[in-house]
Amino acid sequence: MPNGLDLMYREVVVETRHYTDRLFSFRTTRPQSFRFRSGEFAMVGLETDGKPLLRAYSIASPSWAETLEFFSIKVADGPLTSRLQNVKEGDEIIINRKPTGTLVLDALLPGKTLYLISTGTGIAPFASIVRDPKTYEQYERVILTHSCRWVPELAYGSVLMQTIEEDEVLREIVGGRLTYFSSVTREDHTHVGRITKLIDDGTLFATVGEAPWDPAKDRVMICGSTAMTNDVGNACKRHGLTEGSNSRPADFVIEKAFVG
Ligand code: A2P
Repeated sequence: MPNGLDLMYREVVVETRHYTDRLFSFRTTRPQSFRFRSGEFAMVGLETDGKPLLRAYSIASPSWAETLEFFSIKVADGPLTSRLQNVKEGDEIIINRKPTGTLVLDALLPGKTLYLISTGTGIAPFASIVRDPKTYEQYERVILTHSCRWVPELAYGSVLMQTIEEDEVLREIVGGRLTYFSSVTREDHTHVGRITKLIDDGTLFATVGEAPWDPAKDRVMICGSTAMTNDVGNACKRHGLTEGSNSRPADFVIEKAFVG
C-alpha cells in the first residue's frame, strides 16, 4: 500500500532548543522547491516502521528563510511529540509537500494595524509573519500578543523579539513598528490575565497606545486553543470585525493551534 512517504521531503534537523519541560523548537534544512506563505502550516513528522507519523505544524520561519523552524509542545504520551522532542542535529524529519492555512496576509482586507493574538504554541505562525517584509509593506503597525500560563512559557516570544532586534536587516524593515505584549494567567507578571480579559477591560489597547478595534483600520489574526480562538473571535465580532478566509478576505482570521 502506498502511504505517501515517497512523496514527502526528507530534511535534516540543524538545531533544537528546549524552553521548558513542555516546549521546544527545531529547525531543519529547507527543500529548494518548498514554497509557502508566511503563517501557513505543513504536515511534519517522523518515519516510523516505514510509515509517516505526521502532525500539523505552523511554519515559524518566514517564507524567505533558508531553514524551516517549528515550535512544539512535548506530550509525554503524544504519538509524535513524545518522539519528536528527542530529535537532535543530523536526524531526519519528513515534511508533506503542500502547506496551507488561513493565517495569511491574503485572507485579510487592507488595514493600518495588524494584531496577532496568540496563546501557547499559537505564536508559531506569527513568528513567521512578524519576520516577513510584506507585513510591514501592508501595515503601519504590528502588535504581537502572547499569553501563557507561566512566565517561562513566554521564552520563545522573547527570544524571537531579541532575534529581530539583533538582525540589522530585519530591524530596519520593522523600523520600530512591531510591539510585543505578553501576559500570563497563573503567576505574577507585568500583565496578568487571559488576553480576552485584557481586551475587554481595555488594558491591551491602553498599553500599546491604540483605540479599541475598529473595522475601518484594524485587522486581527488569532491562534490558540479552540476555546481561546472562539472567545477572541467573538470579541472581534463585538467590535464589528468580520471573519475572513483565503477565498473571502475580511477583518479577522482564526486558526487553532495544533496539539498532541
Ligand atoms: P488559563 O491559565 O486561565 O487557563 P493552554 O495551555 O490551556 O492552551 O492555555 C494557554 C493560555 O491561554 C493560558 O494562559 C490560558 O489561561 C489561556 N486561555 C485558555 N482558554 C482561554 C480562553 N477561552 N480565552 C482566552 N485565553 C484562554
